[in-house]
Amino acid sequence: MPRPRTIKPFIPLRISGVGAYLPPKLLTNDDLAQFLDTSDEWIRTRTGIRTRHILSPEEVPAEMGIRAAEKALAMAKRNPADIEFLLVATNMPEEPIPGTAPYIAQGLGLEKTPFADITAGCAGFVYALALAGALIQTGVVGKALVIGTEALSRFVNWQDRATCVLFGDGAGAVVVEAAPGPAGILGVALRGDATKLDLLRIEAGGVRLPASAETVRTGKHFLQMEGKGLFRAAVRMMAEATRAAAVQAGLRLTDIDWVIPHQANLRIIEALVKRLRLPPEKVVVNIDRVANTSTASIPIALEELVRDGKVESGQILALTAFGAGACYGTVILRW
Ligand code: COA
Repeated sequence: MPRPRTIKPFIPLRISGVGAYLPPKLLTNDDLAQFLDTSDEWIRTRTGIRTRHILSPEEVPAEMGIRAAEKALAMAKRNPADIEFLLVATNMPEEPIPGTAPYIAQGLGLEKTPFADITAGCAGFVYALALAGALIQTGVVGKALVIGTEALSRFVNWQDRATCVLFGDGAGAVVVEAAPGPAGILGVALRGDATKLDLLRIEAGGVRLPASAETVRTGKHFLQMEGKGLFRAAVRMMAEATRAAAVQAGLRLTDIDWVIPHQANLRIIEALVKRLRLPPEKVVVNIDRVANTSTASIPIALEELVRDGKVESGQILALTAFGAGACYGTVILRW
């Protein structure tokens, strides 16, 4: 097997900038225990979460995305005008029509840039990054901005202790550029299993069941989740996709320097570590501070890793996620 440093990326590109934004309001487990039948001890031991950031009523997810993008652009030393495609991964759009991406484009001053929202559950950022890579590979665009922004705090039932304790709000962004050289995407495995569609849903508010007084009365516009089923599926899915992406890249799992898993539950991450026999110190964890920020989870964790100076040029990163749908996938890249 060739040495990892000599494998050519099948999509040569560079992540030239990374940015993240977390709303200032912090909600601790003890804060939740003030109005819910729960405790810091239960939440910490079952999920690993200690705090989460919550969007204030005056803020919107597009603003979080704009702030994260501005930081990513500053790091990349690029202007908004340099961006040729904007992809926004999110589950709940700013408005059903026209979604979130145009609000972000407007806020960044991207007047002529094409944009699109991508919905692929909490795997949305991994999907969007893979799609940006494909657009770069085919020469359609040279520079793309990929954002994950999410405010599920607006869609969880704050009376339902089984779901509301898990989520936090935030945004993360990357600037991706065509760049011949050793850096780039080495392997991609995108997967879907629509037999698992019922595990995570918001039933009302779409075309199938438009919002009405009745849907509000019965709480159908809130996030509903089958926690145990998701837990089991999550570990299997992220493990399968990571193995498949590594095979495509021609790498062994031991060649990977950093694994950034979707931060849904510390126990899910620990089970993944065990299943793939990963050294825990190579696995990025920040769920204790930010909880599950859905599509923003991976870029927020990546931004921390980069900001802490831990990622070195030439290192191999695996970004892996699962979510509603069920969509899941892994992108392996060389930094
Ligand atoms: N505080 C205290 N008790 C709670 C609680 C809370 N916040 N939430 C649930 N409980 C209770 C349950 O009501 C249940 O009580 P019962 O035994 O009297 O019925 C008990 O704790 C155990 O619940 P259970 O569902 O067995 O817990 P669990 O160990 O499966 O953990 C999750 C629950 C949700 C933390 C876990 O299943 C999980 O993380 N699943 C994946 C979720 C996920 O990834 N979602 C996002 C996908 S992108």
